[in-house]
Amino acid sequence: MPATLSDLETPVPVVELDRLERNLDRMAAYTTEHGLALRPHIKTHKSPRIGNQQLTRGAIGLTCATPREAEVMSDVCDDLLLAYPPVGARKLERLMALPARVRLTIALDSVEAVETLAAAAAPHDRPVDVYVELDMGMHRVGVPSAADAIALARLVSQRPPLAYAGIAFYPGHIRNPVRDQSAALEQLDGELNAVIKEMERAGVGPRVVSGGSTPTAWRAHELSAVTEVRPGTYVFNDRTTAELGACAWDDCALTVLATVVSTAVPHQAVIDAGTKALGREPVRGAGGEGFGVLLEHPEVTVARMSEEHGVLDLRSSSWRPNVGDRVRVIPNHVCIVVHLNDLVYGIRNDTVETSWPVAARGR
Ligand SMILES: Cc1ncc(COP(=O)(O)O)c(C=O)c1O
Repeated sequence: MPATLSDLETPVPVVELDRLERNLDRMAAYTTEHGLALRPHIKTHKSPRIGNQQLTRGAIGLTCATPREAEVMSDVCDDLLLAYPPVGARKLERLMALPARVRLTIALDSVEAVETLAAAAAPHDRPVDVYVELDMGMHRVGVPSAADAIALARLVSQRPPLAYAGIAFYPGHIRNPVRDQSAALEQLDGELNAVIKEMERAGVGPRVVSGGSTPTAWRAHELSAVTEVRPGTYVFNDRTTAELGACAWDDCALTVLATVVSTAVPHQAVIDAGTKALGREPVRGAGGEGFGVLLEHPEVTVARMSEEHGVLDLRSSSWRPNVGDRVRVIPNHVCIVVHLNDLVYGIRNDTVETSWPVAARGR
């Protein structure tokens, strides 16, 4: 294994282990303090090693989006939530083939998903807990009304080995800075409580109310009905999270180490990290131009990209790099960066301490 940062071939994702551990500790402490069950979404790291670190710090289970993620995480976890509609025969087969010791929960929002899941689970006699997914403002998945949620919950209850366990929603529409989230959280709190009251009146009150995201992570306790949170990005954080104030800049644990390969064109420098290293993700919700920002020179952004080229805009900086210099880019959206790589390196200061595979990438 390469011994120091300068021994690594670029572009490559590197994780500052001190920051990662601090991020894991902080979320564990916050959820414990507020009596919230933590079921982190592992789509950010896709690695059993970090999943295990989350579990040893008190996470009650893990959240996954794909069968591959569930398969890989079943090596370290007996309590998995698939927070994604389970649609497609092959996907269902793979989910049913998870080890029997895994308590499986699945969030869904359609009659079709209930019926096909029930049909897949029955021959295996596999108990599956179901969360009914509600759309609470993101308008991506989730039933739009309490009446729809009640109907789906009742249907699930009539389809053993499925068991109705609660409701899920994703507050991904709240993308304003943390300090400006009060109005959106109050509205969400009111709407959530109203839905739950109706469900209770109908005899299908949810035992679990599963929500949570990284931008709202530190204010999740303001949603009075929520019992379980599923933040994912918080393990590494990224430029978007920092711009929103959901972490400090020095909580960004993952950067992409890159090399300056050209300074031929005035007022810019080109690094070997383009879309295939950084992804072409905007700074979601937070404003800000470009596709990443330099750790050491925060005034410099990756302004443009080709597949293998990232163009640094130097016009607002006095820094002038030389060809061969190395930089570290804080990506806009870290989950995509991880997914673009087979291996991640863990560092303390300049020393490469460890590496781990992004085991749950791919399908
Ligand atoms: C259903 C669901 N839950 C939880 C999360 C984690 O949220 P975040 O990336 O803000 O940490 C995501 C992220 O996409 C999600 O789709």
